[in-house]
Formats: sequence, structure tokens, C-alpha cells
Amino acid sequence: ARPIGLIGAMQQELAALLARCETDRVVRLAGRDFHVGRLHGHPVVLVLCGIGKVAAATTATLLGTHFGADRLVFTGVAGGLGPGVRVGDVVLAESLLQHDMDASPLFPRHEIPLTGCSRFDTDGALNLSLAGAIRRVLDRPGHLGPDAAALGVTQPTLHRGLVISGDRFIGNAQASADLQRELPDALAVEMEGAALAQVAHDLSLPFAVLRTVSDRADDAAHVDFLRFIDVVAAQVSADVIGHWLRD
Ligand code: ADE
Repeated sequence: ARPIGLIGAMQQELAALLARCETDRVVRLAGRDFHVGRLHGHPVVLVLCGIGKVAAATTATLLGTHFGADRLVFTGVAGGLGPGVRVGDVVLAESLLQHDMDASPLFPRHEIPLTGCSRFDTDGALNLSLAGAIRRVLDRPGHLGPDAAALGVTQPTLHRGLVISGDRFIGNAQASADLQRELPDALAVEMEGAALAQVAHDLSLPFAVLRTVSDRADDAAHVDFLRFIDVVAAQVSADVIGHWLRD
């Protein structure tokens, strides 16, 4: 059977998944370690992505072409943009867009030139099963532990919709407001998802992008981001992927 490509954005996240994985071999390629094995009985390839669109594109391409992955699932953190998208919430992307793509006036703003495409849709069937797993994790009281409660994370919810990506950490209120004005339906911003989406589209691979909100992409974003990834780190993604593969 062809493996599922599981891409983690953070070292902590990958470590939590690897701890549960029966690894057969580690293949080093393009400066990355691809962990080939089984997770809860499913053939998987687990890999740390690196940061930014190029890192995501390289990783996704290798998973599809070299390792023969039949679908790609990306997990990581994101900055919340939409009102009500709070730290600790989970965002499941229905579609993704590269907010820093701009070849205007030759092509419409955000369109990938010569493709006629600016938004890439994630896979409906993958989303359905992942959303079920996310709800099971979020419904568990205190799922993030006492440290998360100390950060003010209490009743996390699931959001589904547009996630935007670009090679920029959004860490001030003005940058966040600009993105919200340009793309009012964007729920969250990160730095890889829409690049993975473009590669998955080119390779005709179903894919999904799951993000836990680490900050509000505002003036406090860098502080919140570092506290959150230290405290909550990989817990949500590892638990969600665990439920998704088991149930
Ligand atoms: N990933 C997590 N928080 C982010 C932010 N504020 N901007 C870009 N990527 C992020």
C-alpha cells in the first residue's frame, strides 16, 4: 500500500508523532530525514518540513514523487486572523492561498501565473475524517493540560475555511489588519500550507492542512508563538493524527 505523507512544521510535533511510530528506516534526502514506517498500523512517511513555501514545496514533491505517498497531511501552528479565531483553536483548511503572490497587473492579484488558480481546495473526504478526530480531541476537557490553561486557553473550537500562506511572519497589528482587509474570509496565516497545496494540485494528490492557533498575528505574536509552541507544542497534532488513524 502507498504511504500517507505526514508533514510536521515543528521539531516538537514530529518528535511526538515519531514516539508513536514504528520506523523501518530513515531516508536522508535533500537535507531532510524521511521516517518510513507504520503509525497505528498505517504505512506512513513522517518528515519535518522546514519553514516557508520553498521548504514545503520541496518536502511535498519528494513525498509524492520519491516515496509514492497517496495523500499528504500537514500539521503545524498558525496565527489567527478571523475574529473569534483564538489561541488554542484548531483551523482545518478548506482552501489555501499564497498571500504574497502578486504578478499584477499581468495577472490578477494572488493568482498563480498561467494557472488561472489562486485558491487550492483541500480534500473533502480527508477533511471529514480529520474534523471528526479534531472534535474528539477538543471535546476532551483539559486536553492541553494545565500549562495551556495558564496561557488563557480554555474552550478551544474548530474553524474550517480559508488559510493563507506567505514567506513572512505576521507579527504586528498593522500587517494583520492589512491581510484581513485584503482577504476578509481568511481564518489564519502561516508560511507553508498554500505551497504544499500547489504541489499537491500539480501531483493530483489529495491533501489536508491542520493548524493549531499559536498567536493572533499581532504585536504580541512572537511572544505568544514561543510560549505556545513550548507549552502545547505537538500535543494537538499528535493526538488528532492518532485519533484519525485509529478510529
Ligand atoms: N505561524 C504561527 N504564527 C504565525 C504568524 N503570526 N505569521 C506567520 N506564520 C505563523
